[in-house]
Amino acid sequence: MKQIIIGSDHGGFDLKLFLTEYLRTKGYEVEDLGCDSREPCDYPEYTIKVAEKVAKSQANGILVCGTGIGMCMTANKIEGIRAALVYDEYTARMSKQHNNANIICLGGRTTANEEARSIVDAWLGAEFSAEERHKRRVDMVNKAGKTC
Ligand code: RB5
Repeated sequence: MKQIIIGSDHGGFDLKLFLTEYLRTKGYEVEDLGCDSREPCDYPEYTIKVAEKVAKSQANGILVCGTGIGMCMTANKIEGIRAALVYDEYTARMSKQHNNANIICLGGRTTANEEARSIVDAWLGAEFSAEERHKRRVDMVNKAGKTC
């Protein structure tokens, strides 16, 4: 999968630009759904745009706000999204291998550019585990909140 949908608020704007350029040089098709400047804005607006597009496609998504927290909380409210707040290569890799995360969330104020690049590489280089127990657990995650 070479398509990536990316978004940020003002707190993640610079890191988003850095990652977008990096991923494009690596051959990914990156679609940036905003924001478009460092002017203060509301992170849920851009989270919802990215999350809805990821949910309707097979693309991966990347969200960047100040800490990654608010965007992660918001993204996980959209059906079909498994968003993970990741802060190093290990959590990035595990979020794909064990949780099949289709969005990762990063903090522009907490993660340096080079570290973020390594985190994104680790996530994109990982695959969801073929082991039955992980599939079973992710199925349970997908069904959570739909039974009552
Ligand atoms: C904006 O100041 C900040 O609250 C936002 O970028 C994010 O960190 C929220 O979780």
